[in-house]
Amino acid sequence: MPIRRPLIAGNWKMNGRLADGAWVEHFRGALTASGTDILVCPPATLLHHFATLLPGDAIALGGQDCSPEPDGAHTGDISAGMLKDVGCSHVIVGHSERRDGHGESSELVRRKAGAALREGLVPIICIGEQLEDREAGRAIETVLAQLAGSVPEAGADELVIAYEPVWAIGTGRSAGPEEAQEMHAAIRAAWPGDDREGLRILYGGSVKPENAQALLACPDIDGALVGGASLDPHVFARLVNLS
Ligand code: G3P
Repeated sequence: MPIRRPLIAGNWKMNGRLADGAWVEHFRGALTASGTDILVCPPATLLHHFATLLPGDAIALGGQDCSPEPDGAHTGDISAGMLKDVGCSHVIVGHSERRDGHGESSELVRRKAGAALREGLVPIICIGEQLEDREAGRAIETVLAQLAGSVPEAGADELVIAYEPVWAIGTGRSAGPEEAQEMHAAIRAAWPGDDREGLRILYGGSVKPENAQALLACPDIDGALVGGASLDPHVFARLVNLS
């Protein structure tokens, strides 16, 4: 069975300003590649700072969302090729803050992931249910429908899936290990290819050092996509070293 190297990814969202130069320096040396792939996803303005900053062979950079289109007349968008040009290796697509906040459909997410793959980027494709879906017992059905609609033709080792229950994002209320493992197992079982054991599925939604160990111990949880806790390099380093 392929070994799925753990991946701890920090999604900084629209945080991190050049004005606070120390902020970038905080990360120098705070992270060690402890047999875990580490990914930071700073805003594009900080990307070049991190190209050489993070140590170890298991480091990659993530950009932010990308356009589904190749370069061209798309004001306000950034193409996957441009992210590749500035050193990105991964790109987060389908985040609930785009699906809900910008009305992005699973079809658009699938096209964005396809654009990333064509440029040699690894798309981290986010899926996750709303609280009302979970409370109505529709969580797995909802997430598997998003999975089916959001993922382009690709091998399990070409992309990453991030399960992020929307009700756990930024709320301090993470899914429990049992809930998360049940969903991750359902996602893996629904993966269309025969390489499902190689598919990395991250959990995201209020991951903190206090809950990470129990989550990362689950057999189908291959790492974490971390928001708020990744903004403090020392907390983020604790999460990396727990993985
Ligand atoms: O993409 C990860 C993010 O949505 C999770 O945010 O602050 O709940 O860790 P947070």
